Amino acid sequence: MMGQHRRKANGAVRIGLLGCGTIGGGVARHLLMQRHVLSRHVGCPLQLVRVAEIDLARARREGVPEELLTTDARAVVRDPEIDIVVELIGGTGVARQLVMEAMRHGKHIVTANKALLAKSGLRLHAVAQRHGVDLFYEASVGGGIPIIKSLREGFVANKIHSVYGIVNGTCNYILTRMAADRLEFDVALKEAMAQGYAEADPSLDIEGHDARHKIGILASIAFGQWIPQEAIHVEGIMRVTALDIQCAHELGYVIKFLAIAKAEEGGLHARVHPTLLPAHTMLANVNGVYNAIEVNGTPIGTTLFYGRGAGRDATTSAVIADIVDVARNVRLASHERLPTFTFTTRPRPLKPMSEVWSKYYLRCTTVDRPGVIAAISRELGSRNIGLTSVLLHETARGAYSTILFMTHRAREADVQAALRAINRLPVVKAKTVLLRVEPSEE
Ligand SMILES: NC(=O)c1ccc[n+]([C@@H]2O[C@H](COP(=O)([O-])OP(=O)(O)OC[C@H]3O[C@@H](n4cnc5c(N)ncnc54)[C@H](OP(=O)(O)O)[C@@H]3O)[C@@H](O)[C@H]2O)c1
Repeated sequence: MMGQHRRKANGAVRIGLLGCGTIGGGVARHLLMQRHVLSRHVGCPLQLVRVAEIDLARARREGVPEELLTTDARAVVRDPEIDIVVELIGGTGVARQLVMEAMRHGKHIVTANKALLAKSGLRLHAVAQRHGVDLFYEASVGGGIPIIKSLREGFVANKIHSVYGIVNGTCNYILTRMAADRLEFDVALKEAMAQGYAEADPSLDIEGHDARHKIGILASIAFGQWIPQEAIHVEGIMRVTALDIQCAHELGYVIKFLAIAKAEEGGLHARVHPTLLPAHTMLANVNGVYNAIEVNGTPIGTTLFYGRGAGRDATTSAVIADIVDVARNVRLASHERLPTFTFTTRPRPLKPMSEVWSKYYLRCTTVDRPGVIAAISRELGSRNIGLTSVLLHETARGAYSTILFMTHRAREADVQAALRAINRLPVVKAKTVLLRVEPSEE
C-alpha cells in the first residue's frame, strides 16, 4: 500500500508508539504533557493515540492513559488511523519486522535504533522510498545533538571531507576517569557501571560496536552512499592503559575514543579506535559522558557539535524533533519533502584499513642498552615511516626501557609490517603498543 497521505477528520496527526521503556517513556510523557505546544509547532493537533508495550505497568507509570495501551505492537503498525509510528523497542529483530510492516502500511517512521539503521539502513531506505514515507532517526547518533539534521539540511551546500568525533559517552567517561585519576581500565569501567554510565554488559560500548553503528550512519549521510558495517575498522578501548595515557600526556596529547570517517584521494574510509589528539584541541577537552562531532566541508570549513550523547532527556528531545518534522510533512502532505537519503551519483570506493594513512604513536618496551633506538628506527625507516619525535620514558620496570616513537603520516600496512618486525627484534621485550594520532593530515 502506498503512503496513506490523507488528513484525518479532525485534521490531527496521529502517533503510535512502540516501546515505552527508558526513551519511549520519556517520549510518551512529553507528547502527552506538551501536546498543545507541539500541536502549535506542527500547525494542527498532534495526538498520541496508541502505545504498545510488553510491560504495561511500566507504561502506566509514565502516565499513559489506559485506553491508549496495548501489548500488541502489530496492531499499532496496521492501525489505519495512525500516521507516524515511533519505534523505541530497540534491537534488530522484532523492531525491524515492525518498522518494515509499518512502512508497507504507509506509516512514516521515527526511530532511535542505531543498530537497526546501521545493519539494515540501505534496505529500510529503499522500502521507505518505495512506499513514499519518511524515515527519520536523529536520536540514533549523538543523543540530543542535531547532527543528522545538520548534515542533511544545514550542510546541503557542502562537499563533506570528514566527520569524526566522540560518539560514545560511556567510553569517553572511562577514558576521562583514567586520565584524571590515573586509573587502569578495569577500575574505571567498574566505576562507570556503578554510576550507571555503563550497561551491565558493556561490550557493545567498550568494544566499539556502538560507535561503529553511529559512524556508519553519519558517514553514509555525509557521503551519500551507504557504508556497510563490515567496511568499518574497529578497535575498542579495553587495551588502553594508564601508562599510555600518561605517555601521551607527556607528549602533549590526550587519548580519546574516536569514530572517524574521511573522504580522501582514492576513496572513503571509516574507523573507530582510541586516538591521540593534541591536548589543546577542542575534541581533546570533551570530557565525561559528553559527545562531540566535528564536520569538515567546503565551503563551510570546520564545525563542532557538542552535547549529551545519550540518556532519556537528550534522546527524547531528538525523537520529539523528528516527530514534529514528520508531522509537519503529514499536515502539508509534503512527505519526502526532505529526501531521507540522497544517494550520490558517483559512489566512491571504500578503502580497507591497510590503505589508510595516519600518524602513529608507538610505545616500545626494550632492554636498556645503546643501539636500541637505532634498531627500531631502522625498521621504520626502511618502510618509509618518518619520525617526528622519540622520547625515552622513565618507568620503573627494572632493566627495561619504555621508548615512545611519534611518526609522520604513513600507510597503515607499512606500519603494521614495521610493528611485526620490531616485535621480533631481540631487544624488544613486550608487544609494542600502536595508537593512531589525529589530525593525520600534514
Ligand atoms: N537509552 C538511551 O540513552 C538511548 C540513547 C539513544 C538511542 N537509544 C535507542 O532507543 C531505543 C530504545 O532504548 P531504551 O533505552 O528506551 O530501551 P528499553 O528501556 O529497553 O525500552 C524498550 C521497551 O520496549 C519494550 N518492548 C520490547 N519488545 C516489545 C514489543 N514487541 N512490543 C512492545 N514493547 C516491546 C520493552 O519491554 P521489556 O523490557 O519488557 O522487554 C521495553 O519496555 C533503542 O533502539 C536504543 O538503541 C537509547
